[in-house]
Amino acid sequence: MNGQSVLIAGATGGLGCAIARNLAARGATLTLVSRQADKLEALDIPGDRIALDLRDPAACQQAVDFALGQTGKLDVLVNAVGVVAFGPVDELSVDALEELFMVNTFVPVLLAKAALGAMADGGVIVNISGVIAEQNLPGMAAYGASKSATRSFDEALTREARRRKIRVIDARPPHTETGLATRPVEGEAPKMGEGLAPDAVAGIICDAIAGTAKDLPSSAFS
Ligand SMILES: NC(=O)c1ccc[n+]([C@@H]2O[C@H](COP(=O)([O-])OP(=O)(O)OC[C@H]3O[C@@H](n4cnc5c(N)ncnc54)[C@H](OP(=O)(O)O)[C@@H]3O)[C@@H](O)[C@H]2O)c1
Repeated sequence: MNGQSVLIAGATGGLGCAIARNLAARGATLTLVSRQADKLEALDIPGDRIALDLRDPAACQQAVDFALGQTGKLDVLVNAVGVVAFGPVDELSVDALEELFMVNTFVPVLLAKAALGAMADGGVIVNISGVIAEQNLPGMAAYGASKSATRSFDEALTREARRRKIRVIDARPPHTETGLATRPVEGEAPKMGEGLAPDAVAGIICDAIAGTAKDLPSSAFS
């Protein structure tokens, strides 16, 4: 990864931060993006930073343009942006539904679209859909659907991007102890068993980026 230019969206999150730290240790040059500037500044990870609300299509383009401006190229995009909501569908507000699909589905599509315009042949795009994209669960139907849509997008993008030798990795880790479930946009998390360690999940994703993997099903994390 030495000298590779990597844009990490959601770099202040549990997984984004662990991925950023791992790739920095491998010599990558990072551009770190998330919504909150103070949290970005507080990260003890080398790299340029820009605070953007990526629900705005122009912000996704701005993130890519910023990475290009700072490093002169874009080799890898890692999208670790996400939100969760819990509860039966009839109790979920329309605002929560909109937020789930904006952040978990629209942002990956917009970021990939912007990155494809900037990325050299041979690049890598990573989206983290999650194990729920393999089997959805009651109480998480809308979250799961927003993630399945991303997995479906990745499936087709993998084939579209192949002619440019751009690898698209859809990562589907199981529950991971990042605190995501304690910060739902709505509802309350059901009781969950102990999740995986963020560093372990990040390590598997970063090995895949640095290697040749084309998909990371949930079984790759067990
Ligand atoms: N944790 C799990 O169990 C698990 C399992 C499978 C898949 N995943 C997926 O992995 C990804 C990362 O999850 P995580 O557990 O690391 O969550 P997290 O710790 O809550 O991190 C989420 C990140 O998304 C950013 N973000 C949210 N809304 C944004 C917006 N509108 N614009 C820009 N950035 C925004 C946050 O930035 P700010 O801090 O600035 O708000 C934060 O950096 C998510 O897509 C999640 O669904 C997680």
